[in-house]
Amino acid sequence: MPAGARRLTLAPSLLSADFADLSGAIRAAEAGGADALHLDVMDGHFVPNISFGPALVRAVRARTSLPLDVHLMIERPAQYADAFAKAGGTTLVFHVEASDAPAEAVRAILATGAKVGAALRPDTNFEHVVSLLSKLDQVLVMSVHPGFSGQKFLPDVLPKVSAARAALDAIGSTADLSVDGGITVETIGLAAECGATFFVCGNSVFNSAPVSDNLKNLRRAVDEGARRAVR
Ligand code: DX5
Ligand code: ZN
Repeated sequence: MPAGARRLTLAPSLLSADFADLSGAIRAAEAGGADALHLDVMDGHFVPNISFGPALVRAVRARTSLPLDVHLMIERPAQYADAFAKAGGTTLVFHVEASDAPAEAVRAILATGAKVGAALRPDTNFEHVVSLLSKLDQVLVMSVHPGFSGQKFLPDVLPKVSAARAALDAIGSTADLSVDGGITVETIGLAAECGATFFVCGNSVFNSAPVSDNLKNLRRAVDEGARRAVR
């Protein structure tokens, strides 16, 4: 598919929202034109932070019809696939580093009826997902070390985004190519230029400025980056 024809998805990450007013955050994201919501599940083992589990995904599901992109930063992801799918996750994204048998995790997630994504930490080589690629609905290239919002984008991951773009195109895959971590108006265009199509934005969406202004600025910057990719 020509780069210019690809659908670009902005997915605000609720990790940066006010947990005491998630309904307000969801409404603001919808009103601002978000295409999906990103939910960061952290278990305190795979990453050194703890966030939330299926109960919160279910509560969000009850308040929006946007696709829910569930980022599983947890050990033994296959074991929890059913719970997150039943809670209403649209896509369950597991980390290849978290599973001894990533192909098994892909199967377990697809068996629930959810879509499946595979995520790579910044220091994990793209080769780790190559054998899974044809089965995936999403490849997620982390652009920070997972665990916390508000970190600085790591530009060293951009060649991996380009490699993923080339590999997906080579097999005719229309899977989303996601970037997550430090995505701002300054960095989103760089990722789009390398062929990313799905952009997780935490602190650049939920901050002291209006969410709709933030999303508008991110949309403009991502469209510009995608145009540079076409040239
Ligand atoms: C980090 C999470 C991200 C985080 C992004 O481990 O996976 O989704 O919420 O937040 P920002 O955009 O602020 O880096
Ligand atoms: Zn995330």
